Amino acid sequence: MEVQADRELATLLVDVEKSVGRALRTGRLDDLEVLGYGEISCVLAIESKQAAWAVKRLPLFESEEAFRAYREVFFDYLQALSNAGVVPVDSTLQVVSSEEPGIQVYCVQPLLDARRLGPAYLKTCSFDEGLRFLEEIVAATASAVDPRLGLDAQLSNWVQTDEGLRYLDVTTPMLREEDGTPRLDTGLFVAALPWAVRALADALLVDQILEQYHDRRCALLDLAANLHKERLQDWIPPLLELANQYVSDAITEEECSAYYRRDARMWSALLLLRRLDRTWQHHIRRRPYPFLLPGSIER
Ligand SMILES: Nc1ncnc2c1ncn2[C@@H]1O[C@H](COP(=O)(O)OP(=O)(O)O)[C@@H](O)[C@H]1O
Ligand SMILES: [Mg+2]
Repeated sequence: MEVQADRELATLLVDVEKSVGRALRTGRLDDLEVLGYGEISCVLAIESKQAAWAVKRLPLFESEEAFRAYREVFFDYLQALSNAGVVPVDSTLQVVSSEEPGIQVYCVQPLLDARRLGPAYLKTCSFDEGLRFLEEIVAATASAVDPRLGLDAQLSNWVQTDEGLRYLDVTTPMLREEDGTPRLDTGLFVAALPWAVRALADALLVDQILEQYHDRRCALLDLAANLHKERLQDWIPPLLELANQYVSDAITEEECSAYYRRDARMWSALLLLRRLDRTWQHHIRRRPYPFLLPGSIER
């Protein structure tokens, strides 16, 4: 049964890849079911009669070697999360043949119930359920995050399954060597940025962004501040009460607001630059822009 599902998925992924190619050329998403735009990737749903998957299109790998390196750090990351008490959603990688040179890969997960994803769950559950959910997220984050292992604790990366709390955002494996060198080739993801900011990003942005995921206090502050974006501000005080048990320098509500304003400005500016870059590539360079971008995000 599983082998059959694998074969079916492989066939469906080829179709999805064709549709993505079309969408990138025409700017229309007609035959794609988009589940979510993360800040750097796009998540699509694939459904058949037997099964349903969420697939995340990774940036194109230029060589077999680049893909092998990514695959290694990807699976090490899943293992490291599990060892640290953060259970990842079942995740694997699938190569899709495409006409383009390079290796196109998708991260494949089971399609999760949209109502159980962090933000939706917190909007509909009881206060006690919500508190337990946040308590688990905070505890998992506080115990897992360290200079070697990073994670993005934002609510949208967690899901409440029947088997318990699971973590789903695994395509940016945040593992570092003992000396602090990221094991992931960050260039891969920097490639998604417009050329104008790429050099800058390489120099400071990526390091800075990644740094915050390796610091317990930053990860918890990010989780709390992001509740503004999710329109779940009422949950900030109870969350801070939980989070502040794990940090020596207490996080305040004012700090969350200031952090959120700054963060929202940075991501909006980045998205604007990416849209400009896309326009430039379409109209001046006359070539498709290789990433799907979100429409307007409410911040
Ligand atoms: N397995 C899944 N099932 C259903 N929806 C998903 C799944 N994985 C991701 N999503 C949706 O897509 C969003 C972005 O996915 P994520 O893996 O966090 O990517 P990013 O690294 O871009 O944030 C999630 O917040 C969620 O809403
Ligand atoms: Mg995410």
